[in-house]
Amino acid sequence: MSDIRHFLTLKDFSPAELHALIGHAVRLKQKARRGELYQPLKNRTLAMIFEKASTRTRVSFETGMTQLGGHALFLSPNDTQLGRGEPIEDAARVISRMVDLVMIRTFQQAMIECFAQHSRVPVINALTDLYHPCQLLADIMTWVEQRGDPAGRTVAWVGDGNNMCHSWMNAAVLFGFQLNVACPAGYEPDAGIQATAGDAVMCFQDPMDAVAGVDVVVTDTWASMGQEDEKKVRMPAFRDYQVTAAMMQRADPEALFMHCLPAYRGMEVAAEVIDGPQSVVWDEAENRLHAQKALLEILLLGFPDQRQEA
Ligand code: CP
Ligand code: NVA
Repeated sequence: MSDIRHFLTLKDFSPAELHALIGHAVRLKQKARRGELYQPLKNRTLAMIFEKASTRTRVSFETGMTQLGGHALFLSPNDTQLGRGEPIEDAARVISRMVDLVMIRTFQQAMIECFAQHSRVPVINALTDLYHPCQLLADIMTWVEQRGDPAGRTVAWVGDGNNMCHSWMNAAVLFGFQLNVACPAGYEPDAGIQATAGDAVMCFQDPMDAVAGVDVVVTDTWASMGQEDEKKVRMPAFRDYQVTAAMMQRADPEALFMHCLPAYRGMEVAAEVIDGPQSVVWDEAENRLHAQKALLEILLLGFPDQRQEA
């Protein structure tokens, strides 16, 4: 079991591996654009366990497996024994004897770690309360396509110190860029995760200071999945943290606007920003497909340049 590679956080890959993965994703996108059939995962199955809602993640993983010649299986807790209290360890042992890969979207990071410990096949984090590493693969791919290597650049995170913010912190270390973080008091990122990012992350109280001269401005919903009951309390606390046109004007003139989606116009972002010329949100969403195809292929078959031809 020790040889299996999981993708539970971005840190499961080295910087060189992440660059190679993104390079492969760009090649897969070009192949798809040319209409080239590429099916290295024929007869392979991905189990997709969703304990939270999803549009992009489900559609991109399921379509990605189909395009790679394989099959994806949607499993919800409502219809499986996981929802009736079957131990995670047992579910991991059983499911991983039947499928080739497992993708999980859930609440606790500890759940996917436990599943991975008892799995015979690679496990992918498709969002937990702590991280969303698959989204960062697509976001960095989009940045690379639009502007080249992120190394030495600066990103401003404006809004909630949530799972996306944590994965951007990991990305800052791994891709060598600076992350300016501006969150309302009480909604800062996890201090332990921030500590692992060291100097790569700088905190600001005023979002207008955080965005000054940056290359990318990124935000996310003010109330993540599982926090629906907190909406009333959160809205007033976040009022000054909407990404506005005035904020984008403080950033570099070439700055990109990013958002993992789903977005709430008039809340965390003004409509004129997300629907404006600096926004690359639709490319980020499309790149989930290409980046995850690269991830699936690499987890099962290894990196293309290190593969032993059969
Ligand atoms: N960005 C993202 O993960 O979207 P979904 O929740 O729709 O999967
Ligand atoms: N922070 C959001 C991301 C959704 C893709 C959430 O966890 O709901």
